Amino acid sequence: MPNQTEMPAYYEDLNSVQTTWREMLLGAVSERTHPFKKPVLTTIGLNGGPKARIIILRDLDLEGRSIRLHTDARSDKVAEIGKNPNVMLAFYDPAQEIQIQVSGDATVHRHDTYADAAWRGAAPSSRRAYLAEWEPGTPLSGPASGLPADVEGKIPSEERLEQGRSNFAAIRMVFEQVDWLFLSPTGNRRARFVVKSNNWTGTWLAP
Ligand SMILES: Cc1cc2nc3c(=O)[nH]c(=O)nc-3n(C[C@H](O)[C@H](O)[C@H](O)COP(=O)(O)O)c2cc1C
Repeated sequence: MPNQTEMPAYYEDLNSVQTTWREMLLGAVSERTHPFKKPVLTTIGLNGGPKARIIILRDLDLEGRSIRLHTDARSDKVAEIGKNPNVMLAFYDPAQEIQIQVSGDATVHRHDTYADAAWRGAAPSSRRAYLAEWEPGTPLSGPASGLPADVEGKIPSEERLEQGRSNFAAIRMVFEQVDWLFLSPTGNRRARFVVKSNNWTGTWLAP
């Protein structure tokens, strides 16, 4: 078992905790295999129950405290965010035993400069998904990708990809709270960071 002097700085130092979660989120934007790349997004379902699903972290603006996600405009989460913008993203790094829970309000962007820029920046293989003929969750008579036959298994031309643009949505989440949890055999650590007047205030919590 490691002793306390071998522990990372974030074991005892709140500033280091904050630096670490910021670095981890930034790392997840640029590194495809980063453990924080695929968090769980939770929304409040239209019937009031919780909804949770994996989503890819696309971009982060630390100064603006915003996270960008991409989705199909026809998916349940879009209607759910429209009704209740309060969302949470849960991230987990199994190697470091670090969990963070980021919460705030989300907005859905479909036909504005934010969505246009997100669409332009997305890889052709990602944009192809928006050509799907059925809205996500539609019951099918058999197993199928939902993609039209002419684009299945191949990357369509730019002209063909544009036909999926109206199904694309960018989600912008502005976060105001980050909960941190570090599991360690020498004793777990938990902390919360909240934005007040544009400044982060951190406090240790009982794990
Ligand atoms: C590894 C992985 C990555 C995913 N990335 C996304 C994504 O970036 N955007 C998205 O809308 N769905 C993504 N999904 C699918 C969602 O988890 C979910 O099934 C889908 O968006 C429908 O969700 P909804 O019906 O609750 O809106 C991903 C799933 C997995 C397993």
